[in-house]
Amino acid sequence: MKHLLSLEAASADEIEALLISAEELKFKRWANDLSDDDLKDQCWALMFSKSSTRTRVSFEVGIRELGGSVMFLSSNQSQLGRGEPIKDTARVMGRMVHGAVIRTFAQDDVEQFAEFSGIPTINALTDEEHPCQILADLLTMKEKLGGWEDRKVVFFGDGDCNVAKSWMWAAERMGFQLVVAAPEAFLPPQDYQQQFSAGGKVSFTSDAAAAAAHADVLYTDVWVSMGKEDESEDRLDVFKPYQINDAIVTAACSSALVMHCLPAYREKEITEKVLEAHADTIFQQAENRLHAQKAVLKAVVAG
Ligand code: CP
Repeated sequence: MKHLLSLEAASADEIEALLISAEELKFKRWANDLSDDDLKDQCWALMFSKSSTRTRVSFEVGIRELGGSVMFLSSNQSQLGRGEPIKDTARVMGRMVHGAVIRTFAQDDVEQFAEFSGIPTINALTDEEHPCQILADLLTMKEKLGGWEDRKVVFFGDGDCNVAKSWMWAAERMGFQLVVAAPEAFLPPQDYQQQFSAGGKVSFTSDAAAAAAHADVLYTDVWVSMGKEDESEDRLDVFKPYQINDAIVTAACSSALVMHCLPAYREKEITEKVLEAHADTIFQQAENRLHAQKAVLKAVVAG
C-alpha cells in the first residue's frame, strides 16, 4: 500500500491487514516493546490546514515510536497559506521528506500531493473522508464486539460529512450493515447514495428512532464539521432529533456500543450522561488512533 488516501480506495484485504497489524502494535506497546523501527532515519511532514488534537498527537507519537522524526507545518506557516499550488509544494516536499500526513479541505489536494510528491501520503481528514478515524473505530469494534460480522452500525448526524462517508466505504468493503440517519437535507446526494445500492449493506433514513432499533453501534460526530461554522445556528434545530440520548440508547440493543470520534459537544450531538456512561469505549477509540495509524505508517513505508 503506497498511500492511504481514502477507504474508497482501500480493499477489504488491506483494511483487514491494517487492523491485524494495529492489534499487534498495540499489544507490543503495552508490553513496552517499541522495537519496530520502520521509519528509522526518516523525516515525515504533518501538513495541517485545520485544527487537530487526536490526529496530530497520535501521528507525532506514532512516527517517533517507529524511529522517525516529524515536522509540523500549519497552512499559515507555509506558502500553501499564501496560495502556492499543491503540486509545487508536493514536488518540493517529495525531494526532502520521506512521507506526508495531510489534513485539508479538498480531497483532490491530498490526491494531487500523492501524485506529484512521489512519497507515501496519508489522508488525516479531508472534506470527503477521514479514513484513519474509521480504522481506529473498526479496531475498537473488533476489541469490544469481536468484529463487525452481522453487526448493525448507525451513524447519526450529518450524513454527508467525511466521517459518515468513510463509514459507508468501510461497511461496503467489510460487509456489515450501516444505517445513516440524518435530516433529509443532510443525506448524501442520490447519485452518491446509489454507489452503495448494489451491496445492500448501506441504507439512508431520516427516522432516527427507527434506525436505532437493534443497533449494535450508535455512532455520532459533531453536527458542524470544520469549515461549516457559518451554518452552526441553522443546524442546531434540524439536528436535534439525531442526538444520541437515553431514548436512542434504549431503542438499540441492550449491549450497544456508543461511539464518538471526538471532540464532543455535550447536549448537542450527544448528552453528557450518555457520553460519560460510554466514555470507556469513546476514549478507547481515541487511543486506537495511535495504533491504527502506526499500522498505516508501516504499510505505506513497505509500499
Ligand atoms: N477525531 C479527530 O480527528 O480528532 P482531531 O480533530 O482532534 O484530530
